[in-house]
Amino acid sequence: MTDLYAVVGNPIGHSKSPQIHSAFAAQTRQDLLYTAQLVPLDSFELALDKFFKHGGCGVNVTVPFKENAWRYADEFTPRAQRAQAVNTLKKMSDGSILADNTDGVGLVRDLTVNHGVTLTGKRILLLGAGGAVRGVLQPILEQQPAELIIANRTLSKAQTLAADFADLGNIKAAAFDALNGSFDVIINGTSASLSGDLPPLSPAVLTAETVCYDMMYSTQTTVFNQWALDNGVGKVIDGLGMLVEQAAEAFALWREVRPETATVITVLRGERRQRR
Ligand code: ATR
Repeated sequence: MTDLYAVVGNPIGHSKSPQIHSAFAAQTRQDLLYTAQLVPLDSFELALDKFFKHGGCGVNVTVPFKENAWRYADEFTPRAQRAQAVNTLKKMSDGSILADNTDGVGLVRDLTVNHGVTLTGKRILLLGAGGAVRGVLQPILEQQPAELIIANRTLSKAQTLAADFADLGNIKAAAFDALNGSFDVIINGTSASLSGDLPPLSPAVLTAETVCYDMMYSTQTTVFNQWALDNGVGKVIDGLGMLVEQAAEAFALWREVRPETATVITVLRGERRQRR
């Protein structure tokens, strides 16, 4: 019987995960079927019970179910335990459900491997203090940046995150209007781009050498990356590579084979260009 996988979320219509995982499966000659499943907001547990009972081997979990997935799981990778939100579940041979969060490692791989950006020893600014940011903190800190500052509109949320991860590295919280100096890498993890808004950031944090990374992606340059370009930044990156890399990490957890990502990213970028 073909092994079943799915991405579950609400909404789920525009998910690229089925296309990405199908490409991985073809490339690594794995016999599996990966679908997108729209789950009603109050039915996450029921939907997953059914899926795992009827041949489901693993799921990716997206908005708004990442915390439900954390509660649903029986065992956790250390980074999932820290994140308290997970994007990947795997049914183990004894029937238990293992949870992982592959978002952070996806972000770090995209930056360091695909784009050759060094994080070690660098001054990094992370914008936002929601679930998306919490999920990437441990993998970023593992790169041992000189300093990681979390800036958030609601300062207390950034302070909580900084305290929760303080044992893993040099991490601090700051209000947007209290940032000093410029940064080597700035990562936008706020949901502001979703509504076409910008985080209230002074261009003084930028130099021509700053790398700006938006965890969001869209068919056009994101408002944050456009703002960075307009203020003289030379290198901006959107979250498409992170999406493919987090998928690859999930695929590796499920299938114990690591797919190649560069061609999949190139195909997705090409499709976006054609649609413009
Ligand atoms: P996610 O799961 O995407 O992280 P979230 O937990 O709702 O979503 O967090 C959204 C983040 O984006 C928060 O850090 C939020 O700031 P607040 O904590 O102050 O609400 C941030 N955010 C959303 N819209 C924003 C805007 N227009 N400007 C600045 N920050 C914004």
